[in-house]
Amino acid sequence: MAAKATNNVIGKDNDLVWHLPADLKYFKQTTLGHTLIMGRKTFESFANPLPHRDSWVVTRQQAYAAEGVRVFHSLEAAINAAEEKGLETVFLLGGGEIYRQSMPLADRLIITEVHAAFEGDTYFPQIDPEIWQETSREEYKADERNNYDFAFVHYIRRKEK
Ligand SMILES: NC(=O)c1ccc[n+]([C@@H]2O[C@H](COP(=O)([O-])OP(=O)(O)OC[C@H]3O[C@@H](n4cnc5c(N)ncnc54)[C@H](OP(=O)(O)O)[C@@H]3O)[C@@H](O)[C@H]2O)c1
Repeated sequence: MAAKATNNVIGKDNDLVWHLPADLKYFKQTTLGHTLIMGRKTFESFANPLPHRDSWVVTRQQAYAAEGVRVFHSLEAAINAAEEKGLETVFLLGGGEIYRQSMPLADRLIITEVHAAFEGDTYFPQIDPEIWQETSREEYKADERNNYDFAFVHYIRRKEK
């Protein structure tokens, strides 16, 4: 699950680059009660572990520890643990490094398209239409609280992994 700009920017200086309360609400609604796998930098971009969700943090630092999260030393180890636990859904939550590694592993994409280009230092990978089929799209106009037009878009994988 990711929010990306038209130029695929997802972040800058370990933070988001836009403020879209509608997207934060959608993110919360979609992920509540679920397990979220994220890179160590994305985890540290939050003030605290996200409430009412299990945060699993991936790091290469063997001694890494943080309150309220489970730590894994590879993406595969985290995904295996989700399978062992029998979880039907696990959200791969970024950032850029994790998205790059998890695109070949994901079955679905839940993308917020922010219809503007931004300067940034972290990008979402190109979504290849030969691999990913768009299955739904909800378009919204900017309003007094949300400064940009945006869309909630779902994709499923066309081909076997
Ligand atoms: N727009 C969005 O939807 C969205 C979502 C999430 C994040 N973001 C943005 O993305 C940016 C952060 O992304 P990022 O690419 O800099 O960092 P990141 O992907 O969040 O985290 C990278 C870190 O994860 C660990 N890691 C990565 N691959 C690993 C592997 N295979 N095994 C073990 N550990 C692994 C490493 O931690 P160690 O260095 O500790 O070893 C690495 O430094 C921020 O700007 C954030 O705001 C945007």
